[in-house]
Amino acid sequence: MLGYRHGGLAAVTAPVERAAPVDGGARDLVEVDDLKVHFPIFGSLGRRHGDVRAVDGVSLRIRRGETFGLVGESGSGKTTLGHAILRLVHSTAGQIRFDGQDVAAVGARELRRLRRRMQIILQDPYGSLDPYLRVEAIIGEALDIHGLDQGPDRKPRIAALLSLVGLDAQYANRFPHAFSGGQRQRIGIARALAVRPEFIVCDEPISALDVSIQAQILNLLLRLRSELGLTYLFIAHDLSVVRHISDRVGVMYLGTMVEVGPAVSIYARSGHPYTRALLSAIPVPNPGAERRRRRVILRGDIPSPASPPPGCRFHTRCWLYEGLGSPERCRTEPPIPRTIAPDHQVACHFADETLASEVGVVQSDAPVQVGPLPDVPMHGAPMPGAPMPGAPM
Ligand SMILES: Nc1ncnc2c1ncn2[C@@H]1O[C@H](COP(=O)(O)OP(=O)(O)O)[C@@H](O)[C@H]1O
Ligand code: SF4
Ligand SMILES: [Mg+2]
Repeated sequence: MLGYRHGGLAAVTAPVERAAPVDGGARDLVEVDDLKVHFPIFGSLGRRHGDVRAVDGVSLRIRRGETFGLVGESGSGKTTLGHAILRLVHSTAGQIRFDGQDVAAVGARELRRLRRRMQIILQDPYGSLDPYLRVEAIIGEALDIHGLDQGPDRKPRIAALLSLVGLDAQYANRFPHAFSGGQRQRIGIARALAVRPEFIVCDEPISALDVSIQAQILNLLLRLRSELGLTYLFIAHDLSVVRHISDRVGVMYLGTMVEVGPAVSIYARSGHPYTRALLSAIPVPNPGAERRRRRVILRGDIPSPASPPPGCRFHTRCWLYEGLGSPERCRTEPPIPRTIAPDHQVACHFADETLASEVGVVQSDAPVQVGPLPDVPMHGAPMPGAPMPGAPM
């Protein structure tokens, strides 16, 4: 799967410094410290009523060349965190450094340079492409903004980018409506790659796609990461997607990071009741293991980030809190992250009790992993279930 070489690659691989290995000891590419992003809430008379605390004190590191999977229910602040790193929204407090550079402090010219190094792939492949622009213009826009591959280089570059993401170069003249969801997402990926970025925020890039093509897009992203030396922040709302592709995983709840660790450690030995609940929701393709598994269903919706519960924000829905007889500490004292295994931190007062529990753990000698993902089709090949280009949608 990985290591697959593509004809168009040489034309798009950048002669810039590429990512060092994950454990190469180089400075982390992205460093976030105590980040807060609050959105003001205004009343009908224009008076400020409070704030939506979308991100409320998050710290994390993203290492060069790794895929950092970020999960959490809808509304937990994942997109806002990704946007803040790219400076698409302003931070209220805290620090973000990209390759050592303070993202909030850079001026317009430096920000443009930074933007070239950081890109985003959006969730909705239908809404994220301008329906009135041909594919060539969609991909070429980023090149024009940054003054890259202009003149005679432009057309072959766009063709090479299309080829790199598995699309036929002749599609450059078509409009987005001519493509299936998966093909549109490939165009979105080509657009992100056009400026030769080092870091890409992949914001739920497969959530809106048909299940039959999700694996193809995941595979494509994996291959591109490997071949182009990219670093990803990969956002998803459930753990089953990120387990296939992440080196490390962060779990967000209501604007805070409740657990961070190596993917294998999170899946095998999670120390947070919320992560355990998310793990419970992953289907296990082994009826025996599924029967033996202790599951918890999260009750109710995530509370409003405008008035998060005091103490541990998860206490209003926490199965362990209930099981322990509602300890006062959970209601009054915000838990501070502590290390429970190498490179693995958890923010729960009762992480030891979580670790001792079987909730969400798969009791089986059979792995949960569902085998290798099917390979990406060669460029230009129609994807299963996808309408042919030009066909009515
Ligand atoms: N521009 C905004 N103005 C006000 N509230 C916002 C804005 N963007 C996001 N939010 C709120 O912030 C919270 C986190 O949103 P988001 O970052 O999109 O979460 P996620 O990506 O995890 O679903 C949500 O309650 C959302 O409604
Ligand atoms: S601190 Fe208490 S409420 Fe919060 S996750 Fe841990 S046990 Fe649950
Ligand atoms: Mg989101």
